[in-house]
Amino acid sequence: MKHIKPETLEKAYQTFSPHLAVTKDSFEIDVPNLLPDMEWNHMDQLHRPYIHQTYEASLRIAVGKDFAVSLTRWQRIPLFITISDIRIKPGLYYQIMTIAGLIVVHLVISMEEVDKVVHLKIEWFITSHKWLKFLHKPLSKKFYKLNTRLQKEDHQIRARRYELRNKGYTFASDPVDYLTSNTIGCNTIYPALSPTLIDIKDLQSNQLTKFSVGQHSFLIKKQDNEYLIWPAVCPHEGGDLSKGKTCDHHQIQCPWHGLKFTAVRLSMQEPRAARYGFEYRLTDQKIEVTNSRFHTTPNHLDDPPLPIYQKKESLEFFHENERDVLVTQSDQDN
Ligand code: FES
Ligand SMILES: [Fe+2]
Repeated sequence: MKHIKPETLEKAYQTFSPHLAVTKDSFEIDVPNLLPDMEWNHMDQLHRPYIHQTYEASLRIAVGKDFAVSLTRWQRIPLFITISDIRIKPGLYYQIMTIAGLIVVHLVISMEEVDKVVHLKIEWFITSHKWLKFLHKPLSKKFYKLNTRLQKEDHQIRARRYELRNKGYTFASDPVDYLTSNTIGCNTIYPALSPTLIDIKDLQSNQLTKFSVGQHSFLIKKQDNEYLIWPAVCPHEGGDLSKGKTCDHHQIQCPWHGLKFTAVRLSMQEPRAARYGFEYRLTDQKIEVTNSRFHTTPNHLDDPPLPIYQKKESLEFFHENERDVLVTQSDQDN
């Protein structure tokens, strides 16, 4: 890819017009993580309304492996910002936005991993006519504050992905790019689990309880005469479903991207079921679980639709559709 080198960006903007003023600032942080997960986290647009709440709505106009162009609406007022995201090379990204046609903000995001610690540097160049230079300082301060907040909020995602990788989890979204990072599907590839029994004799009714089985964990709820079960590691990208919200129709909504996952239901009348890559069998006071038939074949949707993000409430519709697709695919595996 041909591009203006990060080190000559400031000069390039300055010489673009003699009337321009350019202000540069930066933010740096060391994050214990692996480069692919840091990149995935950066390119993943789906987590933003849930983890960061950074904008009111976003329309992804086009996306390819190395770029994404989105139209973002700020607040309820119709202030639109076009954002161009470009992956220059692994670990180097440009993000360019124009505010009201008067100010250009160009971010250079670079990531470098040494011994499982990623040094993340975000530099930004604010460019406008000299007359608007007085806006640069408050804007730059805002960017600094925003980046501090975003990094803190992303910590839970990065730490968990790191932990899951160490436990042998992988993801169908590897290797990451703008397309795979935004794929709605069951991307989590769980480590192998040979048939194992979970003892449920002490399970309290109507209480969601987490059971750990080797590198796996499951959420089980006894309700009336049946048992509801979900993997605690989200089938999408590994979020913690135990921190999700229980919803109607035996579903849990994941806190990372808002997808809803329907429980497997076991009863003495229907003691066997399979979903999200696991098979379950209810026996006397125990549930047998295994993924030995499925664990290498995640349900990956090849051609996910381009999402339009509205506020959380409106996201339901989009995700509801996806949930149906996920369930159908899992059921076909039976
Ligand atoms: S990790 Fe994406 S919805 Fe759970
Ligand atoms: Fe984030």
